[in-house]
Amino acid sequence: MSRPTRTARRLGPRSLACLALVGLLTACSDQEPGAFAPRGTNAAEINWLFWVMVALGTAVFVLVMVLFARSVRSSRRRDDSEHDPLAPSDATRSSRLVIGGGVVLPVVVLVPLTVMMLIVAERTSPHRADDPLEIQVIGHQFWWEIHYPDTGAVTANEIHIPVDTRVRLQMESSDVIHSVWAPQLSGKIDMIPGQTTQLEFDATEVGEYWGYCAEFCGVQHARMRFLVIAHEPDDFDAWLANETADAPAPETEAAERGAQTFIDVGCAACHTVRGTEADGDLGPDLTHLATRHTLGAGTLPNERGHLGGWITDPQATKPGNLMPPTPLSAQELLDLIDYLEGLE
Ligand code: CUA
Repeated sequence: MSRPTRTARRLGPRSLACLALVGLLTACSDQEPGAFAPRGTNAAEINWLFWVMVALGTAVFVLVMVLFARSVRSSRRRDDSEHDPLAPSDATRSSRLVIGGGVVLPVVVLVPLTVMMLIVAERTSPHRADDPLEIQVIGHQFWWEIHYPDTGAVTANEIHIPVDTRVRLQMESSDVIHSVWAPQLSGKIDMIPGQTTQLEFDATEVGEYWGYCAEFCGVQHARMRFLVIAHEPDDFDAWLANETADAPAPETEAAERGAQTFIDVGCAACHTVRGTEADGDLGPDLTHLATRHTLGAGTLPNERGHLGGWITDPQATKPGNLMPPTPLSAQELLDLIDYLEGLE
């Protein structure tokens, strides 16, 4: 063990504990609320179970500490009076403590906890809803491909859902194991290559909820995020209708030139823009790119400047992602951005 630094010695254990607590609390900023601010049925169940476990754990801890303090005190008293520790009354007390603390207490605490856990596991499992909204989600290094079956709508890194509706994700992976976790809405489920896993959840409030990849999947695991966006049902229907439609035609001359650049410089080899000849399937479908909130799976806000930077050198912001840099003249870049910003 290294000796405490001079600062640590000056601060003392109580100040250090306070500092640690401040660090922990600042990690709970309200910019990206987590599992303790549930906005979905599953997350509320899990949050409730967590606090029950904390309460029971605290009660057991306090009980053990009280017994410990009492035993220290009584052993001191015995030392003073040179009491025989093997006296029959002490032996009975000890065996009562062993049976009480080693058998009765664990049964009383752990059996109800196990039952509660099984109930929560059942309530949050898939196959509970009769007619959920099915959405297919495919994990890629390092982004999410999202299909709305029977509609043709394809998007990326955003799962739009109607509020108060059970949604069932059918999840696959195209490469390695990923894990889907939107802490305010539900627990996490892995995506496993060669298998289809399922996650069923809902959102009980309209809003935007961050989700994360929760299984280390490579160098940009930390920048593999997504948004779950819960709409009023009518707004969701409108969003889905727009997302299902082909891309809007370019409206300006610059955007028209940009559409041609998109084909000429090779963007179309990896990306699809439905309704055009661009039908690549390595990268995200860009048919309605302009409606999305972020670029690079939550890495950057979807704004003009960031879009230009991303196209020119995506490795600068997200090293290790599969998109190569695209060398373009200034005019080509501006035209291309105009085109992409029109994909609403
Ligand atoms: Cu995908 Cu971590």
